[in-house]
Amino acid sequence: MSNRVLSGMQPSGHLHLGNLLGALDNWKALQDQYQCFFFVADWHALSTNYADTSRIKEYTQSLLIDWLATGIDPTRSTVFVQSSVPDHAILHLLLSMIVPVPWLERNPTYKEKQEEITEKDLTTYGFLGYPVLQAADILLYKPDFVPVGKDQLPHLELTRELARRFNNLYQPVFPEPKEHLTRFPKVTGTDGRKMSKSYHNTINLSDSEPEIRQKLKTMVTDPARVRRTDKGNPDVCPVYDFHKILSPRAVQEQVNQDCRAAAIGCIDCKKLVADVMVERLAPSWEVRTELTAKPDYLDNIIQEGRDKASTIAHETMQDVKEAMKI
Ligand code: TRP
Ligand code: SF4
Repeated sequence: MSNRVLSGMQPSGHLHLGNLLGALDNWKALQDQYQCFFFVADWHALSTNYADTSRIKEYTQSLLIDWLATGIDPTRSTVFVQSSVPDHAILHLLLSMIVPVPWLERNPTYKEKQEEITEKDLTTYGFLGYPVLQAADILLYKPDFVPVGKDQLPHLELTRELARRFNNLYQPVFPEPKEHLTRFPKVTGTDGRKMSKSYHNTINLSDSEPEIRQKLKTMVTDPARVRRTDKGNPDVCPVYDFHKILSPRAVQEQVNQDCRAAAIGCIDCKKLVADVMVERLAPSWEVRTELTAKPDYLDNIIQEGRDKASTIAHETMQDVKEAMKI
C-alpha cells in the first residue's frame, strides 16, 4: 500500500490563481504517487464565519468544482466534505479533553489572525480550538504526509504533540504525520501586492476570458515606466512575475530584454500574459461548465468520498475508544 496523504481547504471564497499554482498543482501531482484524501473543511469555515453562514454551502460546492476542474481525480483520490463524516467532531471532542489551553494560546497563527481580523468577534472557543479540529481531521486518517503551506506548520506541530500526548496517556494509536511543504511561487495580485482574497486583487479560476483580459489591462506594472518610450525593469514588475510562472523560457527572456530596451510596450506584454493564462485555465472552464450542469455527478462523488473516508475514520475511532476505555 502506498503512503497516504491528506489535506483540506476551507470553503471561504472562490479559488484564485495563487491557490492553483500553490496548493492545487501540488495536490494534483501527489495523486500519482500517494493514496490521497482531500476534503472541504466546512466546519473550519464556521470558526470565523459563525455569524454569517449563508455562503458556506455555495463555497463548498464551488471549491469541489474548482478541484475537479483543475485535475483532482475522484477515481484516484478520495474527495469528501468534513461535515459528512461526524467522526471528525467526535475525535475533536476527545482531543479537546487532553489539549492544554496554553498550547493553543501560544499558536502564532492564532495570535496573528486574531490581530488581523478585527471586524469579527474571535474570542470564541471554536476559534481557539481550530487546530484541535484540524488535528482530528488529520489523525483520523493516519496520513504519512500533510501537504500544507508554511502558515500551517504550527497546526501540524500541534497535531504531532497531541498524537504523542494521546499515545503516552493511553496507548499508541496515532503515528506522527509529516508535513509535505508546498513551495508557493510568488503570485502577485493585480495591484502588485500578494494575491489574496482579502485584497480584492485576485484572478479567480472561475473568471471568464474577458474578465481575465480586463484585469490584466488594469494591472500595475513597473511604476517608473510611465511612457511607452521609457525603459522598464521586469524585476520590479508584477506582470513579469506572471511571465516567470506561466510563460515559456524563451518568451520570458525575450520580454525581459525588450522591456529593458523599451522594445515592447506594456499593453502587448500583458496580452502575452493574458494569452498563456487563458490557455492554462481554459480546460478547467470546460469541466466547470459540465459539472455545474450535472449536480448529481458531484453529489455522487462526495457520497462515495464520504463512504470511503468514513470507513477509515471508523477504524481509527475503534482504536481510540479502546485505548481510552470508553
Ligand atoms: N487550516 C487549513 C487551511 O486553512 C485547512 C485545514 C483544515 C487542513 N483541516 C486540515 C489542512 C487538515 C490540512 C489538514 O488551509
Ligand atoms: Fe512589466 Fe511587461 Fe511593461 Fe515590462 S513591458 S514593465 S515586464 S508589463
